[in-house]
Amino acid sequence: MKNVVIFGAPGSGKGTQSDKMIAKYGFEHISTGDVLRNEIKNGTPLGTTAKDFIDKGQLIPDELMIDILASVYDSFGKDHKGVIFDGFPRTIPQAEALKKMLEERGHKVAAMIELDVPEEELMKRLLLRGQQSGRSDDNEETIKKRLNVYHSQTAPLIEWYKKEGVHNHIDGLGELERIFADVCSVLERL
Ligand code: AP5
Ligand code: MG
Repeated sequence: MKNVVIFGAPGSGKGTQSDKMIAKYGFEHISTGDVLRNEIKNGTPLGTTAKDFIDKGQLIPDELMIDILASVYDSFGKDHKGVIFDGFPRTIPQAEALKKMLEERGHKVAAMIELDVPEEELMKRLLLRGQQSGRSDDNEETIKKRLNVYHSQTAPLIEWYKKEGVHNHIDGLGELERIFADVCSVLERL
């Protein structure tokens, strides 16, 4: 079982590379952003709370995210090939909670894969997507806030995962297939 954290700034390609991993390896996938957008679409109380934070480019409080995580993970059953965590963890308390949740089940994070993309390119990708996706947070003002939140709250996880001994750096700028080949070479070493 290969549990993998796919990590990077907004627009770094976490969702894109997750889709390719799912197609090739049959992994399960938790994208906390997708979970929240779904809650918003269905008009649930969690969705109403989440919308406020997402539209401001801020993170949803850790307690809410951690609760969601265990229930989605358990919904995959016991025999899955591995789960891709996309957009989670985003803070050190979330990383600690993930570690504990997996340990309680006799599991672990086998690899954290950091997609490293320069800021200019992130902005370009997200503005481009904003023209087509209708994602309420893909506008210049909110993208800037998301990038600030990434630097202050999420990037410290790179050091955290280095200490855990599972950090892998990938150059996330360039051709999708070259990036995916680098992702696969990490997974195939596990
Ligand atoms: P989330 O949905 O996770 O968004 P994000 O981290 O901002 O990242 P994106 O989904 O925008 O980008 P991505 O890295 O998946 O890249 P993608 O493959 O789409 O979170 C949204 C919000 O929800 C957060 O701001 C927060 O409010 C809340 N939230 C979520 N999780 C949370 C948590 N754990 N705790 C608290 N709050 C949470 O690619 C981007 C674009 O680039 C696409 O158009 C794609 O086609 C293109 N692209 C991809 N790769 C390449 C390439 N190599 N070259 C050119 N273009 C490319
Ligand atoms: Mg995404």
